[in-house]
Amino acid sequence: MCGIVGYIGNKDVDSVILVGLEKLEYRGYDSAGIAAIHEGELFIRKRKGRIVDLYSLVNGKPIKGNVGIGHTRWATHGKVTDENAHPHTDCNNTIAVVHNGIIENYIELKKELTERGHVFKSDTDSEVIPHLIEENYDGDMLEAILKTIKKLKGAFAFVVISTLEPDKIIGVRMASPLILGVGENEMLFASDIPALLSHTKKIITLDDGEIVVARQNSFQIYDFEGNPREKEIKEITWEADMVEKEGFPHYMLKEIHEQPKVFVKNIASYLKSGEPQILKDFNLRRILLNKNEFYIQASGTSLHAGMIGTYMVQDLARVKSVAEYSSEFRYKNPVFDPRTLVVAISQSGETADTLAGVRLAKKNGLDVLSIINVQESTIARESDYVIYINAGPEIGVASTKAYTAQLLILALLSLEIGYLKGYIPDDELKKYVNELKTLPEKMRVVLSHEAQIQHIAEKFYNANNFMFLGRGINFPTALEGALKLKEISYIHATGYAAGEMKHGPIALVDENLPVVVVAPKTSVYEKTISNIQEVKARGGRIIIVATEGDEEVKEFGEEIIYVPETLEIFTPILSIIPLQLLAYHIAVLRNCDVDKPRNLAKSVTVE
Ligand code: AGP
Repeated sequence: MCGIVGYIGNKDVDSVILVGLEKLEYRGYDSAGIAAIHEGELFIRKRKGRIVDLYSLVNGKPIKGNVGIGHTRWATHGKVTDENAHPHTDCNNTIAVVHNGIIENYIELKKELTERGHVFKSDTDSEVIPHLIEENYDGDMLEAILKTIKKLKGAFAFVVISTLEPDKIIGVRMASPLILGVGENEMLFASDIPALLSHTKKIITLDDGEIVVARQNSFQIYDFEGNPREKEIKEITWEADMVEKEGFPHYMLKEIHEQPKVFVKNIASYLKSGEPQILKDFNLRRILLNKNEFYIQASGTSLHAGMIGTYMVQDLARVKSVAEYSSEFRYKNPVFDPRTLVVAISQSGETADTLAGVRLAKKNGLDVLSIINVQESTIARESDYVIYINAGPEIGVASTKAYTAQLLILALLSLEIGYLKGYIPDDELKKYVNELKTLPEKMRVVLSHEAQIQHIAEKFYNANNFMFLGRGINFPTALEGALKLKEISYIHATGYAAGEMKHGPIALVDENLPVVVVAPKTSVYEKTISNIQEVKARGGRIIIVATEGDEEVKEFGEEIIYVPETLEIFTPILSIIPLQLLAYHIAVLRNCDVDKPRNLAKSVTVE
């Protein structure tokens, strides 16, 4: 999961590439580099470290040119070193390549190339690409790359520049994302939309098996056989300022605070006539009404949303529903019924495991609906139906606003199907719709407790372990709260079904263990209070997310974070916000890199 940028045009390539890499740093940030061609010579600047380190390298040794490539790395093969940073070059320093993905047969390729005299400078898989191009080059760069591709196995999105043909930049896509930005008198490549937004909103998302030869004023797409291919230019709706921090110290905090605005936008868009209008596509409406099972598959935070979705779909639409990790689903050889709808939930729309789940479902002839944030992403384009969550670019690696937007879409979808099937009478639908419209304000009320949550973070940020508990529709809320904490603060955190504590995990409870319990007023509230008492009896330090006005919890909780009352089905939307803020402030107190946590990347595009 690396970030790639490429440029050809009139601007100084160093500023375009470096700023573009900054916008993609969430995709990987252990090393970075840039290459440019100037007056027939290829210049490379690369090193381990963050983009800020690359800036200082380039400031010390400026690089010029109007055609260049850049890369920010999430190491797969080869340690984090200067030599293993991209770009990689051929033996003659005339061809430079940046690559995202995994070349599965690189060991044999590298062996053959070395036997034929090629000298390697890194121990990465990616470096075989420029050496193969060098070997295949016979006066036509496109031909050389087409021959090279035929030898590569695995996932690769790569961009090539060369002093041999300095008037072009070539991008290739196979199983890793790559987008062409079509500008005025300039062309760009990028792994993801944010790197393009300040230059153009006209994009072409490449499909697997496509290669683009781009010049300053033109481009031509080919398939891997060299046959020309025409593709439509799409106009994206995101604005450049959407990928700025707007005064917040971190993207994650900005995105936590953006959640009410995302709800307002989606409610206006999907609740026009007072009825949920998710299923604008009549064909999708017909399909969904005939499904007897929703099989939700997703990863990480998106899977937690999917788990909550199963409660919503079953309660409101009365359709059987399961949620499964994509990484398990894809290898399970599941038994499918033709009336099963596979639902893929993904913020990035590029998660390899979730994409593989979509392809498995399609191979078995099933309809696939995807709930996606990034426009024109691979999962969106390979699904039969797409519902966009319209959360805007989510830059922080820890997903927050996309998660609650996913929950909103799942709730609206469940309400609409339940209503169309006659399970939800008009007056009950009105009750849900009216409550939905109050959620943005209720989210703002929760956000107004940030100072209290920061105080709680100051009490517990040195803990080595945390436990999160929840029941019913808020069991996944506990899982999500634990994931938020562990992925940005590196504290070991377990999320558990509160009712399961007595079957083992309660052995963990002692006076050193902070236990966060999600206990809003729902149908399982009393049961959850019993679980809190079990923890209290064993000395656990209890933090409770409770419904405003609940006085009973004060007897058990060392800290109480109140959230406004809402309908049970919407409690996960309000209850997760304190946990997002708690994780954020603990991570800041532990001096962790909140937006770019160690070992992680925003979009996991490899297995
Ligand atoms: C979320 O905080 C994590 N960064 C991660 O679990 C993420 O949700 C997961 O990788 C799925 O990503 P997707 O939604 O883009 O498919």
